[in-house]
This record gives sequence, structure tokens and C-alpha cells, in this order.
Amino acid sequence: MQTELLTASAEGVARAGALLRRGEVVGIPTETVYGLAADALNPSAVMRIFEAKGRPSDNPLIVHIAARAQLDALVTEVPAAAERLASLWWPGPLTMIFKKAACVPSVTSGGLSTVAVRLPAHPTARAVIEAAGCPLAAPSANRSGSPSPTTAAHVTADMDGRVAAILDGGASGVGVESTVVDMTREVPRLLRPGGITVEMLREAVGEVEVDPAVTAMLEQGVVAASPGMKYKHYAPRANVTLVRSAAASYAAFVNAHAGEGVAAMCFDGEEAALTVPYRTYGARDDAAAQARRVFDVLRGWDDDPTVTQVYAACPSSDGLGLAVYNRLLRAAEFEVIVLDD
Ligand code: TXA
Ligand code: MG
Repeated sequence: MQTELLTASAEGVARAGALLRRGEVVGIPTETVYGLAADALNPSAVMRIFEAKGRPSDNPLIVHIAARAQLDALVTEVPAAAERLASLWWPGPLTMIFKKAACVPSVTSGGLSTVAVRLPAHPTARAVIEAAGCPLAAPSANRSGSPSPTTAAHVTADMDGRVAAILDGGASGVGVESTVVDMTREVPRLLRPGGITVEMLREAVGEVEVDPAVTAMLEQGVVAASPGMKYKHYAPRANVTLVRSAAASYAAFVNAHAGEGVAAMCFDGEEAALTVPYRTYGARDDAAAQARRVFDVLRGWDDDPTVTQVYAACPSSDGLGLAVYNRLLRAAEFEVIVLDD
């Protein structure tokens, strides 16, 4: 398949809409990461997303809408707390899980009785949903298991020849995927941390639980609340190990392990002490910069086949840092070294 490269112009958006109405898959920008979109209510279109990604079919997709009014047809009930969160952060990087209406095909919801819905803030994403005339199912536009794409070039690297078109809307502003909150429970439960932090959620609706899978490996036999959390994810070819420590002991540890194939993923301004190749991913106290850069830096290791072991400085898990920590933990397959200072 020849993949068309579209711009975020009126023509590009119209072309994306026409392809989507025909049941094709199109890579689209959002403020979090790029998505791989198709008509959420057309089972054969949604199947094409799973094929393009190489995604396990039990992993449900997020349904994207362009206006709050589109939600009611997709779900059986909107709890009061969800209404409050929508009023605060839609449009924005917040996905909520509801009991699904019959019109949502089971292929879209991974066979679950619930559906995840998000109203993105990116104007081009909303324009494409409007041009398509239907809600769009859209997982992150990476091959299954790879770091999520934050630029059209990342999407092209993974999806050229596998999708009908890719629409270039510039680099994603948030850089990590949306916050996912299950609103079907008595107490809302955070399934995936993102741009809307757990601190913000609690301030808005009171008690919010954090699913144990956010920061810990699922034990064998435990059913994942969010199926996406059970898979190895975001990992480059090289082995990634997180190192939790202050700057000086991090540098001492990495330098002591210097050798063939060893590299560092460190905070801005902390590279001077290192004797190994490095990439920086934002300042230690700047979680927003870390979120914007983490996936691009993880992807970058694949451009250098000589790198086999990456020691990544562990971010703080406060605020937006929890989202960065959650993604790096999965890239590292939960391998964390804790140093005493
Ligand atoms: O920021 C984002 O959310 C991006 C952009 C494109 O909008 N999309 C995205 O989709 O990250 P995806 O498919 O890569 O991640 C969706 C996550 C997965 O972990 C999936 O298991 C979970 O949400 N999920 C989807 N529907 C669910 C449901 N009904 N119940 C529990 N988890 C669900
Ligand atoms: Mg994904």
C-alpha cells in the first residue's frame, strides 16, 4: 500500500476524512501522541488498525470524539464524577472508561463491556473527526511494543506502507499518552497516568484509586484492569535499566559500568560527569520536558546499533513525573536499581 503524506491544511483534513469514511486507517496528530485512526463503529475498519499495529485483539482501543455531545450515543451512563472531569479537562489528555452502548463493536472494546472515550484538544484531531463524520478509534500509532510516536516522522518509520495516509500536524505537545481513568467503579481508578495527574483528579472528585499495575509488575495470573498494561511496551532494541539516585551517584554508577555498548539516558545538565555516550531527556525537575522527550529519546537508541545497554536516570513520580516513570518502567521491563546516596 502506498501511504499518502498529508499536511494539516483544509485539503489534508478533507482527504483524511474521505479515507476514514471509506474504512481506511489514517495516522493523525493529537496533543498527547500520534494516533492510528479508523471509524470506531465499523468493525472491518477497526480490524485494519489491529493489523497495521500488530496489536493483540484483546487490547481495547480509545474512541475519540470531537464534542461532548457525541459521548451519549457511545455509553449507557455518564456518572456525575465523569461529568465533572469532562467539564474540567475535555478537550484534553484525559480518557474515561464507561459502560458501553450496543453500537460500539466488540472489536473496538477488545471484547469488554466497557469503552474508553477521549475528546482530544489538538485542533487538527478534532477537525479530522468532524471531517470523518464518526467517532474514531485510535491507539498510539506505533508498532505494538514500540515507543509511542510524537512526530509524523516516527509514524512514518513504523507505518509507511501499512496505512492509507499519515497527516503531519507537528510534534505532540504533551508527549505521553492520555491519562486513563475507569469511571465505572464506585471509586474512580487511574489505569494509566498522563497529562491530567492523579493529584488533579483527586482535587476535582475526591478519592481516586491508583491501579497497582501503574507502578508494579502484574503478578502471574492476575487479570489486567487495562489490558495494555500487561504487555512489554515502549522498549527500544537495547536493554534499558532504570537507576534511581541523585546525580553524582548516578554518574559514578554509570561510569563504573562503562564499556562496549553501554550508554546513558540522563537529565539535562547532568551529562558532563559521564564517560559514556548519552542522550538527555529534560531537566531533573522538569517533568513536562521529560514527557515531551522521553519517547523520542527511547526511539533514538535504535538508530545506533552499537548501543546494547542503556542506564536511564529514574524520574520523580510526582505529578506528571508519574506518567514518565510509568513509561520508563515498562521500557525497562521493571528493572530498577536503587542507589543509596
Ligand atoms: O493519548 C492517547 O490516549 C493516545 C492518543 C492517540 O489518543 N491513544 C492511546 O491509545 O494511547 P492506546 O490504544 O495506545 O492505549 C489505550 C490504553 C491501553 O492500555 C488499553 O488497554 C486501555 O487504554 N483501554 C482502552 N479501553 C479500555 C477499557 N475499556 N478498559 C480498560 N482499559 C482500556
Ligand atoms: Mg499505545
